[in-house]
Amino acid sequence: PAPGWTVEADVVVVGSGIAGLTVALRYAELEPAAKVLVVTKDVLSSGSTRWAQGGIAAVLDPRDTPEEHLNDTVVAGVGLCDVRAVRTMVTEGPGALRRLMRRGARFDRTPEGELQLTREGGHRRRRIVHAGGDATGAEVQRALIEAVRAGSVQVIEHALVLDLLKDAKGRARGVTLHVMGEGARDGVGAVHARAVVLATGGMGQVYAATTNPVVSTGDGVALALRAGAVVRDIEFVQFHPTVLWLGEGSTGQQPLISEAVRGEGAFLIDHDRNRFMADVHELADLAPRDVVAKAIMRTMRETGRDHVYLDGRHFGREKWQTRFPTIYAVCREHGIDPATEPIPVSPAAHYASGGVRTDLRGRTTIEGLYACGEVACTGVHGANRLASNSLLEGLVFAERIAEDIHELRPSPGDPVAGPDGSGLVDPRVRPRIQAHMSMGASVLRSRESLRATAKALREARWTPVAVPPRTESWEAANLLTVATVLTGAAQARLETRGSHWREDYDTRDDNEWLGHLDVTLTEEGP
Ligand code: SIN
Repeated sequence: PAPGWTVEADVVVVGSGIAGLTVALRYAELEPAAKVLVVTKDVLSSGSTRWAQGGIAAVLDPRDTPEEHLNDTVVAGVGLCDVRAVRTMVTEGPGALRRLMRRGARFDRTPEGELQLTREGGHRRRRIVHAGGDATGAEVQRALIEAVRAGSVQVIEHALVLDLLKDAKGRARGVTLHVMGEGARDGVGAVHARAVVLATGGMGQVYAATTNPVVSTGDGVALALRAGAVVRDIEFVQFHPTVLWLGEGSTGQQPLISEAVRGEGAFLIDHDRNRFMADVHELADLAPRDVVAKAIMRTMRETGRDHVYLDGRHFGREKWQTRFPTIYAVCREHGIDPATEPIPVSPAAHYASGGVRTDLRGRTTIEGLYACGEVACTGVHGANRLASNSLLEGLVFAERIAEDIHELRPSPGDPVAGPDGSGLVDPRVRPRIQAHMSMGASVLRSRESLRATAKALREARWTPVAVPPRTESWEAANLLTVATVLTGAAQARLETRGSHWREDYDTRDDNEWLGHLDVTLTEEGP
């Protein structure tokens, strides 16, 4: 649809989690006279950041080193991390964290006033800062929103991004939006800008059960694909090992039980009380996330059950209430008392390790288009992200993007007639997409399961009715696009690596597959 209104800005940031708001705040610091506009699909706080529990990984302990953080990250990423990107993240991380604290975020401290550090899967050192015990993301989101509200950054909420606008030379010059409930700016409109930053978060909603909020529908990846950008490592969807098991077939956003619970000494057991991680990895319950998720899946298969247990009874009630208040409360809400009984858990979709390919400055393959946070593939996560590196990546690369735009000073340019690529899809197919993805392209995949999923996704595209131009219809289109591309990449990678687990190619193959799958969308599809 043709835009009914236009807004001019210098930089438009799409998304309002840690990545988007940090880009906006940093750019506004660098260029106080610039108009920085944040557009967000729901309200400022509705993305994934606020759900983050465990924390932010950074080298702060004098006994720790960036080299060790790098090493843990690269080991977790199973050969596919870009070491230069990892080095950038781990060396710039502590400084970026301190700047986040200066922007108002408060983290938990020891009685002596030092930052409290915990461990999570794959970390050989205590290096994870947290807030409110297990409510790190909520504190980060609160602080960043307050900083945005107090400054010059402008915001449009309830604004779903549709497509990228480009100029005659193919450079990004803005976006089209679908806005609801914002008065004069309702309907389809356009933002013209000198640079566009995608910080739209993840795509967990392509699966039936996920830790991601309802807004995580892969909008940024889908937009980037339609615009012709390269997407990398999309087959590597990380499944969080411990999500509260709510009964068979529970769908939608599931409550997370942070890895920090294991970092503080809780352990996994099967229905016979066996500590099954002990024989799987030298780090046992603190092995990297993909290893733990696979071990849980194997245990579930062997025991014929659909969950295992996380045992933290030895913490005692007081520790549960003070160190993990969010998790304690959610367990109690569901009738479980973690101080007296093990918590039933199973894996669920959690994080897209891949995304829109960027360089070390956050530049995508389209000039003027940047990507940051979960939507991006900077190369730091490889085949499996290390715990608590996600907020860190968002922070570090957000600042780099703001600085790059500031240094480049892209000139203004008129967008030519924008693409109208976002064909609508009947929102009623959303649960079908999710069910098929969970059945065939989930933790465990095979040629047959992926083929069946790909076929179901092709069929889901067919819509017998006129589809109303509503947010849900564009979201369904985005989900279908990213699900299709993800399934295609998973079909192509004939090995098991990190969070990509093929039943029919169940070993890692460094001869054939020590490389990346880059995807672009053509007229014919991915
Ligand atoms: C968690 O708290 O277990 C999640 C941390 C993360 O995804 O990095």
